[in-house]
Amino acid sequence: MHNPQRIVILTGAGISAESGVPTFRGPDGLWEGRRVEDVATPQAFARSPADVQRFYDLRRAALATVAPNAAHVALAKLQAARPGAVLIVTQNVDDLHERGGASDVVHMHGELLRALCLACGSSSAWHGDLGGAPVCPSCAETGRLRPDIVWFGEMPYQMARIEAAIARCDTFVSIGTSGNVYPAAGFVDLARRAGAHTLEINLEPSLGASNFDEVRHGRAGTLVPVWVDALLAAL
Ligand code: APR
Repeated sequence: MHNPQRIVILTGAGISAESGVPTFRGPDGLWEGRRVEDVATPQAFARSPADVQRFYDLRRAALATVAPNAAHVALAKLQAARPGAVLIVTQNVDDLHERGGASDVVHMHGELLRALCLACGSSSAWHGDLGGAPVCPSCAETGRLRPDIVWFGEMPYQMARIEAAIARCDTFVSIGTSGNVYPAAGFVDLARRAGAHTLEINLEPSLGASNFDEVRHGRAGTLVPVWVDALLAAL
């Protein structure tokens, strides 16, 4: 194993599956029997805000019932051992990386525990329901808050920072993502062009598995701590 200096780790729903957070496209996934267009688009929110708010209010409430697993904790341990060398880019809107102890986390698809005001544009920490027309903590407008989640058709957050980090990395690791959704599914190609070593850790081959130098298939809660410990032992 080479001695990586700059690591970018992309995570998806699979890293939180063992914590009890449903994935999107697996059996019992969030999109099972539900149309993305009905809950995860700006058009859906315009059409039926109450339905969309309820969908995210239920997910936000469920977040309080789950805890980080060994994969989240292992990545935080790696970050602590290599300050400034490990960036976690997550597609997940849960806060399990942070609760696992991670510091440098980019939520490219937003966060369940934040609300976005359509009146003043501010994003605020939010733990309760958004259904029922709450007041914006910044501008005091009523009923203009939506989940601070990047919906289909919207631009992911911090893309310039993510692309710059991948262009400079020497190791790119993708954990628990199916490779269905761009731009995240294209990050491995960016990393390859940067000459980075690329590794996929996933329960099964993702759609982009053949683009990786190395693949390890199995549960993140088992494989990620093994990968981290081997990396730290090699330092
Ligand atoms: N360990 C490792 N991988 C797992 C585990 C596990 N315990 N359980 C499931 N997986 C894998 C599945 O095999 C699948 O390939 O995690 C992947 C989850 O894929 P998706 O459900 O498609 O989730 P994700 O790739 O994160 O979705 C991307 O799509 O719906 C949008 O915005 C949403 O961020 C999301 C994006």
